[in-house]
Amino acid sequence: MCGIFAYLNYQVPRTRKEIFETLVKGLQRLEYRGYDSAGVAVDGSAKNNEKDANNNICLIKQKGKVKNLDEELYKKGTLDLDEELQTHSGIAHTRWATHGEPSPVNSHPHRSDKNNEFVVIHNGIITNYKELKKYLNSKGYEFESETDTEVIPKLIKYVYDNREKEHVSFSTLVERVIQQLEGAFALVFKSIHFPGEAVATRRGSPLLIGVRSQFELTSQHIPIKYSGNKSDGVQEKNSRNRAESVGEQQDLMDMKAVEYYFASDASAIIEHTNKVIYLEDDDIAAVINGKLSLHRVNRKTGEESVRAIQTLQMELQQIMKGNFDAFMQKEIFEQPESVVNTMRGRICFEASKVILGGLKDHLKEIKRCRRLIMIGCGTSFHAAVATRQILEELTELPVMVELASDFLDRYTPVFRDDVCFFISQSGETADTLMALRYCKDRGALTVGITNTVGSSISRETTCGVHINAGPEIGVASTKAYTSQFVALIMFGLMMSEDRISMQKRREEIITGLRDLPDMIKKVLELDPKIKCSAEELYQQKSLLVMGRGFNYATCLEGALKIKEITYMHSEGILAGELKHGPLALIDKHMPVIMVIMRDGCYTKCQNALQQVTARQGKPIIICSQDDQETIKSAYTTIELPHTVDCLQGILSVIPLQLMSFHLAVLRGFDVDCPRNLAKSVTVE
Ligand code: F6R
Repeated sequence: MCGIFAYLNYQVPRTRKEIFETLVKGLQRLEYRGYDSAGVAVDGSAKNNEKDANNNICLIKQKGKVKNLDEELYKKGTLDLDEELQTHSGIAHTRWATHGEPSPVNSHPHRSDKNNEFVVIHNGIITNYKELKKYLNSKGYEFESETDTEVIPKLIKYVYDNREKEHVSFSTLVERVIQQLEGAFALVFKSIHFPGEAVATRRGSPLLIGVRSQFELTSQHIPIKYSGNKSDGVQEKNSRNRAESVGEQQDLMDMKAVEYYFASDASAIIEHTNKVIYLEDDDIAAVINGKLSLHRVNRKTGEESVRAIQTLQMELQQIMKGNFDAFMQKEIFEQPESVVNTMRGRICFEASKVILGGLKDHLKEIKRCRRLIMIGCGTSFHAAVATRQILEELTELPVMVELASDFLDRYTPVFRDDVCFFISQSGETADTLMALRYCKDRGALTVGITNTVGSSISRETTCGVHINAGPEIGVASTKAYTSQFVALIMFGLMMSEDRISMQKRREEIITGLRDLPDMIKKVLELDPKIKCSAEELYQQKSLLVMGRGFNYATCLEGALKIKEITYMHSEGILAGELKHGPLALIDKHMPVIMVIMRDGCYTKCQNALQQVTARQGKPIIICSQDDQETIKSAYTTIELPHTVDCLQGILSVIPLQLMSFHLAVLRGFDVDCPRNLAKSVTVE
């Protein structure tokens, strides 16, 4: 939800202006995660200020988007922007408000006290913040914001102030703090007591560290130092020992000059370095004298004792808008390539064979299961709805589709012989992650369908499929949906490979998948026509989207796109339900889009069309280009190339993605940053 970014330069001289630019650029890359307010903390050497630069942290926070913060940084005028800092640690944050309205005081970084002794940036939610706040209040700590986060800097100061003269390292303080925290967090700390150092940790919210140096990294792994577990023989006698060993033994590299980048996701790091370390829950990463070390409390059985330094595969241009006005628009137009990337290396079109490497070792077990349960939220849930029918057909198994939050609310019965799919673009959605843990606890086999390598869902599932759609930055999900769709179809094809009776059907679908990129290109050529329809509709208050069968999911997904970025009321309606209520809405003023494709539901959809036109409705119809009957009787049509019934939903959703984009632009809204929303929903 929120975006956190921190930059530490060790023995790499940077002016304060350059540091600001790096922090602001990092935040801009993460802005899609939250954009209510933003802030930075840097060492503050106020001009004409007698205070020691190293002993003074300057906080600058601003309501609104990162560009407002950027302007504020230079407006302040009190900081010496040209001063060169040999070693420095700066932290920055872009917020999506959960506790307290967007305002400078509620923005991060949050501080321990008026002297800014400790400052912190946080992504996630601290669920026991009320109890902690009460305790800290009783100890005389005064709070200034309405946030849950503020307990963290207060708590670290409390631990620091009560350390009884022992030498305590920065990372030990953080370790003691996180032992008191409940909920989800990714945190980066900065302190006047530990100048030039940074400590970062996570539990339930993603965090990775990029490393840049002109020297070769001497190792591919960083060892983890464990504390508090005698049986592993690594327990330390006291924190002083720990502090020393962290600096001396656990260093990643012994280099003269190095830069570290801490971020909620890789898109903020890739322009600086492709060498990254993904932190796991409860890892504590500390940089002292330019050396990075990792430690955690208690080694669990079977747990890795190192973290790998990974090479990001992402390209910078993937996270740039290029010639497009918005990321969402770029991502819609990327779909001919993104679906190819989902299929690449997995389908042999000549042999009609599909191999999903991440699932093949578990296929036998999956085939023996009693039912498939597909779980997700929002658009990812719609991908499950879209493929349910074909999965039932190809696997001959019952398939349940579940919204993660509702699935959990119902304490849905799950058994050891269930296979549960967790569909998530980000791989971090809290409800989906909770549902995954719930199913794991009940012994079900878990499968992740995600777009984010190293995400919590991809790490915690037994096996899975990475959809390879490339980074999706626009808050409204588009290319991830079509790639999830393709990935689930490929799963069905893999499951049915040995069914003789299904060979014809499989071949037809595989041919359809082969032709899909060209067909998507043809649909994208309809953009000017779709824009004209948007020009007719953009002043309306409401828009209904109707269809059934394989295209019902298109209606749900189209309506979701419309409501989330245009703020128009929009509803996806199952045409079969029309007579049971929604028909009452229809008159000559109600804007309606109908999806009518040449599939098993064609006649029933024609009936629905009659019912709408009989009430003077004038629907825009998304139909097959060879469907003369519909075309000649319609008010307006958007005519699509015809493909196999179960793939048609991939084509039929694109006009609605484009329609929502144009409606939002015409209504004057920021397409990539819709109000009240954020890309990755890491809170329940
Ligand atoms: C809508 C949208 C959301 C997400 C939902 C789940 O355009 O993007 O509905 O689909 O928040 O997110 P993931 O797929 O990351 O789990």
